[in-house]
Amino acid sequence: MRIGVLTGGGDAPGLNAVIRGVVFAAQREGFEVVGVKRGWAGLLDRVETEPLNPDKVRDIIDEAGTIILTSRTNPLKEQGGVDAVISNIEKLGLDALIAIGGDDTLSVAAELSKRGAKVVGVPKTIDNDVEGTDFTFGFLTAVEQATEALDNLKATAAAHERVMVAEIMGRHAGWIALYSGVAAGADLILIPEKPFKISDVVEFVKRRKGEGKAGMLIVVAEGALIADYEGPVTKDMKKDAFGHVYLGGIGEFLAKEIEKATGFETRAVVPAHIIRGKRPIAFDRVLATRFGVEAVRLVKEGHFGKMVALSGTRIVERALEDMSWKTRTVDEEIYRQAVVPFQ
Ligand code: F6P
Repeated sequence: MRIGVLTGGGDAPGLNAVIRGVVFAAQREGFEVVGVKRGWAGLLDRVETEPLNPDKVRDIIDEAGTIILTSRTNPLKEQGGVDAVISNIEKLGLDALIAIGGDDTLSVAAELSKRGAKVVGVPKTIDNDVEGTDFTFGFLTAVEQATEALDNLKATAAAHERVMVAEIMGRHAGWIALYSGVAAGADLILIPEKPFKISDVVEFVKRRKGEGKAGMLIVVAEGALIADYEGPVTKDMKKDAFGHVYLGGIGEFLAKEIEKATGFETRAVVPAHIIRGKRPIAFDRVLATRFGVEAVRLVKEGHFGKMVALSGTRIVERALEDMSWKTRTVDEEIYRQAVVPFQ
């Protein structure tokens, strides 16, 4: 059995741990593993593979990034893209493919599976917004790094009696902003699930100042929405191959609005990819390893068209065809318990 493994979309801490899990589990079964380079691009217009063996991956469990590279190439958007991928899978002699990625990568896997390809998925994204799994690996590592950034910003905001606006990654779901904002004791957390009015933020800042708090920390998810404003605030409208606008800009926009309306010195900071490139924390290394090992089990048992997922403390399998590919947004209950009483 020859298994291909690829990583697609934005990198997430733990990708290398999954690859390591796949390679070691495959070796025990006597299966061969090849890494397909640069996500779907490696099966489309830039076919390139790399044989993987335990020696190559033994020491990568703690490394961020992905040794087999990634891309946001989308075969569904290219004329004949899916056919080309299927034909390259055949040409490369792959008996099965393990695709590690978020909604975008996995929706391609689902389509390939519908067309008869033997694919198994592994959910990944720092955004934690893939449906069907309690957590994606990489999320808690990103939260850890974001929290550290926020702690630092809070200290300097207090020292200078400034308002700091931190823009945190999170496209359609505010999981990272919420978790890190709560953990850092941010004054205000703004997420895509709760569109906000600029006037309410301004009032909030004035009220806090009136209560004697001059240094303030506001956390805003990059995809946070302003009520009555169509779409997210972005610097430009450039889109990736999956049609997503490149986000970024809401923090700066908000900081300017606050300063204009209140006269309080306000700064915007964007930790951006710094939170994505962190070495995975132990939880993510373990979860990613288990995902990799279980993905090989699905391959061995012929459970194609499935993805592994975390349910409570157990690794389960889910059918790709059952996925709606809707963003798993922040839980109302968590928001009520961890955010509402504090702002
Ligand atoms: O992978 C998810 C993510 O980190 C989002 O939070 C963010 O919007 C996006 O990727 C950024 O992607 P890129 O690095 O391709 O600009």
